[in-house]
Amino acid sequence: MSDAQSAGPASRTPTIGVFDSGFGGLTVLRALVARLPQARFAFLGDTARLPYGSKSRRTIARYAVQSAQFLTREMDAEYLVIACNTASALALDAIQDAVPVPVLGVIEPGAEAARAASTSNDVLVIATEATVHSHAYSAACQAQGLRALEKACPLLVPLVEEGWTDHSVTAEVIRIYLDEIRRDAATQGLKPDTLVLGCTHYPLLRPLIEKVLAGRASCAIRVIDSAESTADTAVRLLNGRAAQRNIETSAQTEIHCFATDSVDKFERLGPRFLGRPVGHVELIDLGG
Ligand code: DGL
Repeated sequence: MSDAQSAGPASRTPTIGVFDSGFGGLTVLRALVARLPQARFAFLGDTARLPYGSKSRRTIARYAVQSAQFLTREMDAEYLVIACNTASALALDAIQDAVPVPVLGVIEPGAEAARAASTSNDVLVIATEATVHSHAYSAACQAQGLRALEKACPLLVPLVEEGWTDHSVTAEVIRIYLDEIRRDAATQGLKPDTLVLGCTHYPLLRPLIEKVLAGRASCAIRVIDSAESTADTAVRLLNGRAAQRNIETSAQTEIHCFATDSVDKFERLGPRFLGRPVGHVELIDLGG
């Protein structure tokens, strides 16, 4: 091997691309940074076209592929984590076909974590309308030997976007949704002991969700954050690759954020999701 070859990719810190429809996916990035503090990340929030959760599979796939290609082509990302549950549910195959790097979505890690947590093997999943209609979580849970009941909770994303993560109105909305899904579960003879948060924004509501559950449930319901389980899976996958050596020896966390619109809002609200300042957010144009 020549010097040029040995000093090439082996001495370079690979970029991990993280993509979401908005900045809610920073909850996944936060979980990744906690596990890979010396990695380099490029995060793209497609804020111009948010929300994905109310759009069709075709549109979601088109947007998600453009975003993934930006991260691999412009940012040279060598791994992609699709933090967006909706894009993972409806466009993972399309993204995998469109980019030449490993792509990890959030659905399977969420289902695996649910299997590890559940003893009754009956789980509840709350997510956007598009994710629920795709039944991607049901299928992934079924593959784990679980029965899943899914419920769309479309009011929760705007409430989080509004910053109402500890608000009595949000608590009441959560109470109504959870009462409905638990009633449906009882009607179907399910005994759920696990709740999967199947949307990037819901981890910010976790304390409120757990409070509502504690005041309601006759038996304890464990909450699974797919951001955490996705980060665990990503680290396992990266550990299996030679590039992990480079990630561990990089000097410090590097995060470069991009958005397709609403840069000011991203910079203002992003720290809530990331748990640290997001720095300068670069505005990019992905076309239509
Ligand atoms: N990122 C989306 C998800 O995790 C929520 C926001 C949206 O609807 O685009 O499903």
